[in-house]
Amino acid sequence: MSGEVMAIDPQELRRVMGHFATGVTVVTTRDSEGRPNGLTANAFMSLSLSPPLALISVDKGATCYSCFQLNNSFTVNFLSEGQEEVSRRFATKGADKFADLKWHPGENGAAIIDGAIGCIECRIAQCYDGGDHTIVVGEITRACASGGRPLLFFQGKYRSLPS
Ligand SMILES: Cc1cc2nc3c(=O)[nH]c(=O)nc-3n(C[C@H](O)[C@H](O)[C@H](O)COP(=O)(O)O)c2cc1C
Repeated sequence: MSGEVMAIDPQELRRVMGHFATGVTVVTTRDSEGRPNGLTANAFMSLSLSPPLALISVDKGATCYSCFQLNNSFTVNFLSEGQEEVSRRFATKGADKFADLKWHPGENGAAIIDGAIGCIECRIAQCYDGGDHTIVVGEITRACASGGRPLLFFQGKYRSLPS
């Protein structure tokens, strides 16, 4: 091994990463004027039970990026298999993401989306640089799950669990 770092083609890397199956979340937050905002995200993980922590990874180029500041709040909504349209909407830059969407504010003020199978409410505790993304660690202040079937994402396509 020469120790040289191989250049990896970003499109090829995206294709390979697409072989890792995930659920789909919509992460909601509020801007500095209290307006709801959010984005579709599958870079989410449960990080720690004690203390209760979770992390997400947010593209530095996202329009809603500036909402992810220390001490601000966010909520991770776990989408159900019928919510593909919600996922597409929150993955579309410039979309009117909350138009005709049924939601209510959680205890932290960020949106809880009707029909999601679970959600966690967080307060932003730490942010770490992650290349073109920022790793955002949230302290979980509330968690709930109603059950149901999840929306999945694999090889660039939405999927459901086999029945
Ligand atoms: C299935 C799926 C998963 C995604 N996961 C992430 C993610 O984890 N982090 C992220 O920053 N963007 C992710 N995106 C892209 C954002 O949802 C999209 O770029 C969004 O429009 C960015 O927010 P903005 O509209 O505020 O710019 C994902 C998109 C899809 C379809």
